[in-house]
Amino acid sequence: MQLVIMASGDGSNFEAIAKACQSGQLKATVKLLICDKEDVNVLKRAQKYNIKTEIVLLKNFTSKQEYEKKIVKLIKKENPDLICLAGYMKIINETILQAYEGKIINIHPSLLPQYKGKDAVYNALANQEVEIGATVHYVNQYIDDGRIIDQIKFNIAGLTEVEVFQKLHTHEHLLYIRVLKQFYQNKNN
Ligand code: GRF
Repeated sequence: MQLVIMASGDGSNFEAIAKACQSGQLKATVKLLICDKEDVNVLKRAQKYNIKTEIVLLKNFTSKQEYEKKIVKLIKKENPDLICLAGYMKIINETILQAYEGKIINIHPSLLPQYKGKDAVYNALANQEVEIGATVHYVNQYIDDGRIIDQIKFNIAGLTEVEVFQKLHTHEHLLYIRVLKQFYQNKNN
């Protein structure tokens, strides 16, 4: 199974997927990382795993549409089974959706449909939620709205904010790998 990953930041989910591929735990290859930032940690992680990277900066294009056209071109070359968003912080617009809707999945740090959008974890904490979670879902034209593929839930009672984020990331990594294994099985059955 061939994957393209898109990310904008730290890249802990990217690394979890890359590691699972490298160890053989997941029968997949990360063909390409597309990153929309120049100086972020996910780029270092890609280097560590020797994964090809393309940095595509919106500011170098005349419009978001032209920027997305470039991304579609890069993805096309890899012909992936799936495009995994892993902390990609831009909205996916119609140029990418027209080419790949149904093949793009995202991980979001809440039990969707609760807490869509940015600051999902902070909003859950402000509401004193005792159980939070993460969701992998298909990407559609609305934010954090596409069909839910799988979710993971955990208890955060008594944890500090730092501990909440640590626990979230551990669970997100488990969830993303679980989902990708399922995709692999579905593809090969
Ligand atoms: C994750 O919490 C994910 O749910 C959200 O962005 C964060 C990315 O984390 N979409 P990382 O860059 O993979 O560490």
